[in-house]
Amino acid sequence: MEITKTLGEFIVDHQNQYPTATGELSALFSSIRLAGKIVHREVNKAGLADIRGAAGGDNIQGEAQQKLDVYANEKFKAALSARGVVCGLASEEEDSFVAFDGQRSLQGKYVVLIDPLDGSSNIDVNVSVGTIFSIYRRISKTGGPVSLEDFLQPGRAQVAAGYIVYGSSTMLVYSTGDGVNGFTYDPSLGVFCLSHENMRCPPEGNIYSVNEGNYVHFPSGIKKYIKFCQEEDKPSGRPYTSRYIGSLVSDFHRNLIKGGIYLYPTSSTYPSGKLRLLYECNPMAFLAEQAGGKALAGVNQPVLDIVPSELHQRSPLIIGSSSMVDKACEFLSEK
Ligand code: AHG
Ligand code: MN
Ligand code: MN
Repeated sequence: MEITKTLGEFIVDHQNQYPTATGELSALFSSIRLAGKIVHREVNKAGLADIRGAAGGDNIQGEAQQKLDVYANEKFKAALSARGVVCGLASEEEDSFVAFDGQRSLQGKYVVLIDPLDGSSNIDVNVSVGTIFSIYRRISKTGGPVSLEDFLQPGRAQVAAGYIVYGSSTMLVYSTGDGVNGFTYDPSLGVFCLSHENMRCPPEGNIYSVNEGNYVHFPSGIKKYIKFCQEEDKPSGRPYTSRYIGSLVSDFHRNLIKGGIYLYPTSSTYPSGKLRLLYECNPMAFLAEQAGGKALAGVNQPVLDIVPSELHQRSPLIIGSSSMVDKACEFLSEK
């Protein structure tokens, strides 16, 4: 493919469409782009460098941290604090939010919420992992310290969101609220190149993604929907295809391109679902809606409308092609 535009050029073009833009959001994206390249480099030598395996600690949610979880968290934190446009960060790997209190950072307009390494249990077996990010304008006054309320905004208030998937190639996909665009990393040039312009999620697809090992723990509506997916009455004449990688980023990315549905519902083991509202569900829901798809936490409950009450809060997630999400919702609402 001929390279027509790099991510850097795309961001500048975009910024030029807004005469009042200050360049701060562009600087923020530069931080994400840089940290993404650093993590890409590390992920790609995971078999050689001493970065596989557990780091020896647990995060606040009691999950064993992998070395690459810790590494990615440190790299994104450092990159995001360096440019003075972000006043604070909340991360799946931090107990509480991190306030950036340098003189320039206090003036920063934005907060970033991040899952630095998603799908980290896949690292040791060479399966795709990712980074998910979510950006909000702070509510508290610039010049003062960042506060918890800056992070506890409904997903609808996101200024931008995106992910990097470290897959067979590394890709950065993001939206600032006017569509979704994807950039593939060319390691020989060290640049992300526009490869997927204006990504649209097909309204109907052929793939369902759910951890069926949890079947017995699912609510009956979800069980019935899974059985529906396995019936042979689909347009293809076959049941839907089951695909589950176990990295939300990779499962979502595939379904975004091909059409499909991803479900991480409530269960008797995870009464509120497993995925984290602020670091995983909201950014993915923002992208899904921007691409013409849907994301629900329950019947008639768009993920983006949930008002969060705590940083590490979990949420059920049903996300992907709009007609498929609607169909799943029909099963959930049946008494
Ligand atoms: P993380 O590695 O950031 O903790 O996220 C893992 C998440 C998500 O990426 C994935 O879809 C899901 O957990 C998989 O969970 P199960 O192993 O329970 O299916
Ligand atoms: Mn995750
Ligand atoms: Mn993670």
